[in-house]
Amino acid sequence: MSQKRVAAIKIEDDPEGYPLGAFCIPAHYADYLEKIIIPLGVVKDRTEKLARDIVEDIGDGPIVALCVLKGGHQFFHDLLEWIQIIGRTSTKNIMQIRVDFIRLKSYVNEESTGEVQIIGNDDLNGIRGRNVLVVEDIVDTGKTMEKLLGELKKYEPKMVKVASLLTKRSKARIHGQAYTPEYVGFDVPKKFVVGYSLDYNEYFRDLGHICLINEKGKEKFKSD
Ligand code: HPA
Ligand code: MG
Repeated sequence: MSQKRVAAIKIEDDPEGYPLGAFCIPAHYADYLEKIIIPLGVVKDRTEKLARDIVEDIGDGPIVALCVLKGGHQFFHDLLEWIQIIGRTSTKNIMQIRVDFIRLKSYVNEESTGEVQIIGNDDLNGIRGRNVLVVEDIVDTGKTMEKLLGELKKYEPKMVKVASLLTKRSKARIHGQAYTPEYVGFDVPKKFVVGYSLDYNEYFRDLGHICLINEKGKEKFKSD
């Protein structure tokens, strides 16, 4: 029997985390981080559980796994690897997976009604009539994801579920008004997190652990 599910693992507002010296950090980032909040091993273990939950829910048919680049790529890789491991060690017919990759471009007009443009994918007609699993790194206010789901709906998929490694405790989320994906790894405080493909101006994607950036890092890697 499977264990009762946890909606998301909550990382406290002011997490104690782990000192940088407790795990291995690339030298090029060591001076620019405050602390580790989710070590890579914990990310991977949580991803295994999410993969099991997903297989339990929708594992009886083929799916299209849709990776939202760039931030989602590591989670996408690890999640699909776990689903494949579950599949090859099961006697049941576990989901066959097609993959597609999208990037989102957000245009915000002066009234801040964001518009999301999907770029870089195969023909999205491939999702018509199929079960789709969207894989994201982080859902903050949820506005971008809601817009993406609206766009995907135009292609009439059979079903769409979303897996996001992280959600952020934005004000709207605290008040229960932010979009929340079906599968969430960790709910993080409203602080800027980097690592495991999450970037700050394209830096820190090549850092395994999920960390808080420090003031020196924000300055050093600020966009020019
Ligand atoms: N880190 C990286 N990318 C993000 C974040 C974050 O904290 N929030 C929204 N996009
Ligand atoms: Mg993202």
